[in-house]
Amino acid sequence: MKNIGLITSGGDAPGMNAAIRAVVRMGIYCGMNVYGFTHGYQGILDQSFLKMDRGSVADIIQRGGTVLQTARCEDFFSFSGREKAANNLKELEIEGLIVIGGDGSFRGADLIAQEQNVNVICIPATIDNDIGGTDYCIGFDTAVNTVVDAINKIRDTATSHERIFIVEVMGRTRGFLTLYAGLAAGAESIIIPEVALDLKKIYQKLEHGSLRGKKYSIIMLAEGVKGIMSQQENAYHSPAYALSKLITQNTGNETRVIVLGHLQRGGAPTARDRILASRMAFHAVELLTKGASGLMVGIVNEETSAESLQVALAKEPIIDEEMLHLAHVLSL
Ligand code: F6P
Repeated sequence: MKNIGLITSGGDAPGMNAAIRAVVRMGIYCGMNVYGFTHGYQGILDQSFLKMDRGSVADIIQRGGTVLQTARCEDFFSFSGREKAANNLKELEIEGLIVIGGDGSFRGADLIAQEQNVNVICIPATIDNDIGGTDYCIGFDTAVNTVVDAINKIRDTATSHERIFIVEVMGRTRGFLTLYAGLAAGAESIIIPEVALDLKKIYQKLEHGSLRGKKYSIIMLAEGVKGIMSQQENAYHSPAYALSKLITQNTGNETRVIVLGHLQRGGAPTARDRILASRMAFHAVELLTKGASGLMVGIVNEETSAESLQVALAKEPIIDEEMLHLAHVLSL
């Protein structure tokens, strides 16, 4: 294999740059030319690319975001879009493609591998950590640390004013980020989509706390939790404000809301994410050189792994019951 392409696609995640760096350097080490397309699949359609050398990825391992830029590409959902992308790759004599992104990007990758016969290897990178077939995705550890850092600050003001704070955390439809960060930050309540919503329990916990003289509380709420908002409120996509209103109505307590939002996607990647990104990228390039395709690399029990994209995409990312129990017991 002489030429390979590389994209970052979907929501950015800290550590994507470390993965880009490792793909480029490992690709060159294996004697290949590496072409980085900008803005994800859109860059392949627009033939917007740069030939990358070792120097082009110097000084990026410590930076959040992605130097290749990223996007969610509508055109790639159509057969004609994917056909065009495959033709553009052929024209440039690119025989293999590495996709760094989340499950939406992987579904596109699986389709061009199946339909268009493009050799593709995917590297999971999303703060949501919602991809089956890997224990961790690039960016998750950094985002957990970012949320914990934010909660440490919120706790200072929450305890000083004896207030209840509702902190809304990203994660799309899943609660991994909320659970891990909640456990690490010592949140009093953790509300995630994977556990049936029981508002009464939340009110009771606040009341019991108050009887014990505890007047502050950190309630962490995953953005994907359903069943709190009315249809009207749904338009604003923030269950945290709806929960705040309900808590005040039902317990008489005043609350403050903070929606952490996109700051959770930024910042310098942790050492753990940089190492994870480097290991996965190294493995991905190695697989391409061996002629593999339609695979996603991952990390399972601390070892690098690879499995079919279709199998990985069909797997449900599972919340660890022990973690849930632990978080519950420690917050009583
Ligand atoms: O998938 C990453 C993520 O940050 C989710 O946690 C969040 O729901 C979504 O992307 C936000 O997407 P956008 O940046 O398009 O608003």
